[in-house]
Amino acid sequence: MELEGKVAIVTGAALGIGSAIALDLAKNGADVAIVDLKYEQARAVCNRIVAAGRRGLALGANVAIAADVQQGVDAIVKEFGRVDILVNNAGINRDAVIWKMTEAQWDDVLAVDLKGTFNFIRAVAPRFKDQASGKIVNIASINGLRGKFGQANYSAAKAGVIGLTKAVARELAKYNVNCNAVAPGAIETEMIKQMPEDARQKSLEEILLGRFGTPEDIAWVISFLCSDKARHITGQVIQVDGGQYI
Ligand code: NAI
Repeated sequence: MELEGKVAIVTGAALGIGSAIALDLAKNGADVAIVDLKYEQARAVCNRIVAAGRRGLALGANVAIAADVQQGVDAIVKEFGRVDILVNNAGINRDAVIWKMTEAQWDDVLAVDLKGTFNFIRAVAPRFKDQASGKIVNIASINGLRGKFGQANYSAAKAGVIGLTKAVARELAKYNVNCNAVAPGAIETEMIKQMPEDARQKSLEEILLGRFGTPEDIAWVISFLCSDKARHITGQVIQVDGGQYI
């Protein structure tokens, strides 16, 4: 059990990739706090963590609101006594070509995907510094590396997450804190399942390995990055995309 005795926070873990991350961290021994807008679904994931013999906590909060995030981290520390791992996974997309993109579409995506990540890192950083340990993994996207048609807001936010990751890696390295990003390619969540067949096919053709990734493909890499085996990796962007973008 690589993560026995560790306490993890996973944002956006009520569904999709985030729930797979939370469950895999628990499988590796961590106690897990789930933060999501969707409280009932977060509770359901939490129940599975408890059933697996770990401690779990579900919090309904919006990652985009700094005060809620600070309160959430305080509640998690009150419950578990510490925090060792932060996975910033919550994310949304509001796609439109740039000439049709509304200010709200831009602001909403930047607020959740980029500012939400900042809010959580800032809230845990003083603790990580004081305890001289911590692991941060931020979920970016290959579209933050290559830019995607119809996703100027999302591509900018995820590129921002990559810059944030590298800056934080520099700032917290001397406190023995690792900060990395994982950049998934197309992963088989509800979003992909509901794509029109032609768009699905086009996306699949880009992937060298010829299959969509699964949420577990992302979760396994994150559990590794949060373990001591990855202690010499920081400031990196790990693409988990089946060769979709090389
Ligand atoms: P999803 O839509 O299935 O799950 C996202 C979760 O985040 C939901 O539970 C949602 O309630 C929560 N959430 C959204 N806004 C929130 C907020 N303001 N505060 C708290 N929770 C909030 O998404 P999926 O596909 O699991 O994606 C997870 C992450 O992976 C996202 O950051 C996404 O951008 C990224 N990603 C996903 C890819 C894919 O193909 N599915 C590809 C590349 C990156």
